Amino acid sequence: MSRSGRVIWFTGLSGAGKSTLASALHARLAAQGVPTELLDGDAVRENLSKGLGFSKADRDTNVRRIAFVAGLLARHGVTVLVSAISPYRDTRDAVLAELPGALEVFVDAPLTVVTERDVKGLYVRAIAGEIAHFTGVSDPYEAPINPDLHLRTDVLSVEECLSQLGALVGLREEVK
Ligand code: PPS
Ligand code: ADP
Repeated sequence: MSRSGRVIWFTGLSGAGKSTLASALHARLAAQGVPTELLDGDAVRENLSKGLGFSKADRDTNVRRIAFVAGLLARHGVTVLVSAISPYRDTRDAVLAELPGALEVFVDAPLTVVTERDVKGLYVRAIAGEIAHFTGVSDPYEAPINPDLHLRTDVLSVEECLSQLGALVGLREEVK
């Protein structure tokens, strides 16, 4: 594992598995002594981006704030795991291009599957028209065209995804 920091950016629909995978990878990196930090969409919106909504302008502001903080941390040797829907390709591409060595992970599950999972009960409300601008339902999600890693979480298990993520970031195999 390189000691220089970098940003691993998880993008995908709500319920696709970004938080699950980013937090598990964070724990594994930390267990191997790698300086690491997790910038998760929900926590960011409760703190750094408190008050922002879900218009394109607000989402882009949110993504740019996350990228700014991630860049500062990475510069000091931290491996930063970002978990945010970050639905707009142009904004994602722009911020990733400014982060040296950043890797994009597309956490991908079809709308039918994330709606079925409905981890937070938001899809049922969005489909009923109770939440405006809900990603995938009434707001766009622009999938990455050439991500560094494409994980189909409706096909692969969490453990299989983590194995691919471990290989991507150079995590040592755990001794069983
Ligand atoms: S973004 O687009 O990157 O700024 O979004 P993010 O900061 O990741 O926040 C997404 C979480 O907010 C909840 N939520 C919504 N998501 C999408 N669209 C709308 N309108 C919306 N309203 C609330 C939702 O729980 C997202 O969390 P995750 O972890 O992705 O499920
Ligand atoms: P997001 O952060 O993208 O909104 P979450 O991580 O909160 O998504 O929720 C994803 C849900 O999907 C969790 O309940 C998780 O257990 C489940 N899941 C099933 N298979 C996978 C997988 N391969 N990777 C990640 N999550 C998965």
